Amino acid sequence: MASERTLARDVSAEFRFRCIACGNLSNSASQNFRCVNCGDLLEITYPHWKESRPDAAQLKSTWRERRLSSSAIDLSGVWRFRDLLPALENDQQAITLREGNTPIYELPRCARTTGVPQLFAKHQGMNPTGSFKDAGMTVAATFARRAGFHWVACASTGNTSASMAAYAARGGMRGLVLVPEGKISWSKLSQALDYGAVTCQLRTDFDGCLRLLQELVLRAPVYQLNSINPFRLEGQKTLAFELLEQLNWQPPDHIIVPGGNLGNSSAIGKALVEMRDLGLISRLPKLSVIQAEGANALVRTLREAAGQRLINVSAETRATAIRIGNPASWKKAVHVLEATDGACEQVTEVEIAQAKAEIGAEGIGCEPASAVTLAGLKRLLKQGFVKLNETVVLVLTGNLLKDPDFTIDFHRGELFKGTKDESASAALSALQRPPIVLDATLDAVIRTLEQAERS
Ligand code: F0G
Repeated sequence: MASERTLARDVSAEFRFRCIACGNLSNSASQNFRCVNCGDLLEITYPHWKESRPDAAQLKSTWRERRLSSSAIDLSGVWRFRDLLPALENDQQAITLREGNTPIYELPRCARTTGVPQLFAKHQGMNPTGSFKDAGMTVAATFARRAGFHWVACASTGNTSASMAAYAARGGMRGLVLVPEGKISWSKLSQALDYGAVTCQLRTDFDGCLRLLQELVLRAPVYQLNSINPFRLEGQKTLAFELLEQLNWQPPDHIIVPGGNLGNSSAIGKALVEMRDLGLISRLPKLSVIQAEGANALVRTLREAAGQRLINVSAETRATAIRIGNPASWKKAVHVLEATDGACEQVTEVEIAQAKAEIGAEGIGCEPASAVTLAGLKRLLKQGFVKLNETVVLVLTGNLLKDPDFTIDFHRGELFKGTKDESASAALSALQRPPIVLDATLDAVIRTLEQAERS
């Protein structure tokens, strides 16, 4: 039966699985990607780096040269960095949609209003399915197919399911999606449907979906593609490789990332430490994680339990991508915060909406979960954790088009109607640009133009 099945035949000599709690090393992982000794999460490690450390200058020049190549694997902004990823048997094995290669933008207006001289956005929403998930999915889906699986599955707040469905389809596998009913955006749901996944809307929340998935993989021959799967995190590391390359290997002072299930922050932190250990960068940026106040499990875990045990919460936020109360990778996130000296903060719903509109006003759309980064930066500045002369990179995780309802409700002034935040949100009216319905006459349009010019 499937529970006996392991991924042993998958593993090349070049990487191993290591338990993050007891350190147990193994050549294979069980279906639920948990340590056979203590049940904690696994991470991928590269023991041969100790004896023959990849040469930093050589890596940089190889990665630069690959940008001129037209082979499918080099056109991927993830596999271009394959020297620091689990090894494939051959280049054709990769299931790729040319993920990665995402832009880094300056945010001059947000820089002015916050007072930070150099403020950048690394926009992972420019990936093929519109979110950062693609960087991890190309790697994990590739290893799923290599292990001979016909079915892949995930629990999701929407973006993982969209990404998994796409990569399953490209790789000739079937996808099973478990999402909380009524709690993910239509855009994300429509992607999973269009890419042909079997999509189940479960009457529970994300945490309930994930719990069920973890039981399912022990009973049925499906390969789990949540970020508990350490191959996902290896792929997501490339965000940081690409970012540092774009910054000419000069580390920023701060990288700020949203926190939900905490896979992405763990992956970025792992990449930063690896880059430092391999001599690709000379110092570590501080990696900070921002959560919505209503889904603040990591914030509370650090404040109330000193990061020693998870304090889970019953999650509620309009930033549905991070509506997660029981984050699977909390321990990994605690480790990377410690390793990089980063901070963990929470922001309110009104702060999220304001930050999203401010990023949008720069001509750069993102989804609400991504905007927690700018809102968090403001808090970290107030606390003096970020200094006014420091360079900051915000990781925008998803595209604006992922959640148009939020944006339309915001601009129509309906986002907070009837909620406890209604009065606090009044201050946001200057940022609102509601659509204007007019008679189709020249006069009406000119009058509107004149009014807008005066406002
Ligand atoms: N931003 C967006 C747009 C997301 O979709 C997610 C997570 C996060 C941030 C948080 O990242 O979980 O690695 O800490 N979305 C998951 C999903 C959980 O199912 O799509 P994290």
